[in-house]
Amino acid sequence: MVIFKKNNDINIYISAQVANGRSIGFVPTMGALHAGHLSLIKKAKEDGTLAVCSIFVNPTQFNDKKDLEKYPVSTEADIELLISAGCDVLYMPDVEEIYPGGAANTKTFDFGYLDTILEGAKRPGHFKGVGQVVARLLDIIKPAKLYLGQKDYQQCMVITKLTEMMGLQEMEVVICPTMRESDGLAMSSRNRRLTEPQRVVAAIIYQCLVSIQSKQHIGSFAVVKKECEDLLSAKGFEPDYVALADARNLKLLDNYNTDTPMVALIAAKIGEIRLIDNMLL
Ligand code: PAF
Repeated sequence: MVIFKKNNDINIYISAQVANGRSIGFVPTMGALHAGHLSLIKKAKEDGTLAVCSIFVNPTQFNDKKDLEKYPVSTEADIELLISAGCDVLYMPDVEEIYPGGAANTKTFDFGYLDTILEGAKRPGHFKGVGQVVARLLDIIKPAKLYLGQKDYQQCMVITKLTEMMGLQEMEVVICPTMRESDGLAMSSRNRRLTEPQRVVAAIIYQCLVSIQSKQHIGSFAVVKKECEDLLSAKGFEPDYVALADARNLKLLDNYNTDTPMVALIAAKIGEIRLIDNMLL
């Protein structure tokens, strides 16, 4: 695996690879890698692309600065994991490479409705920061395929919209299934901050999603939502939202509509850790 820290160096390398007929598969990350990230690298390799991963903890997407300070960093272990997954290139820029002249001088995008609901409503400015950094990374890497995890469903929709706004319709956005622990907990870099007792109850989020899914033909969503909120609270979570939406555009639904592709989404906090997950119905 080749590691680059400077835009110029990775540009030269990637241009040479593309001139030699390689197509680029890109996996953007903030490090603290787990099997979910590695599944994206493996998919990029299976698709025959040159797998490029970035590790950059983007300060502009943290609306809570404490969350940024506590974001886990494990660079040595990440490099080992990427090598074992067959990653070809790792890009690890510093803030100055991504935001020369400061983030305030770097282009941002308006995601409209998508930024007003769920994560957008709970984390003001978060998607603006995500859009800003992903736009920069796409400008630098210029991939043919971009690999994202379904775990961040709303982020997948925001980034897909970003690629449209950037006129990158040729680039394929590949959304890969959420990887789960054996008890169903969605893999996330935040999981490593859970205490042992918190980790024991954390799979309740997954169980709620399964219950929302399994009751779609028999239940009223309002009733199932209340059951989930009560269950989450009983296990020590503070639910942020338990929501049902049209999977194509994230328009929120009051009740099940089995004529529509649906997605159930949950965000809940336990102690200081906020976890999110979703399930297609
Ligand atoms: O999902 C993440 O890790 C980040 O939001 C991303 C897409 C790498 C942008 O910083």
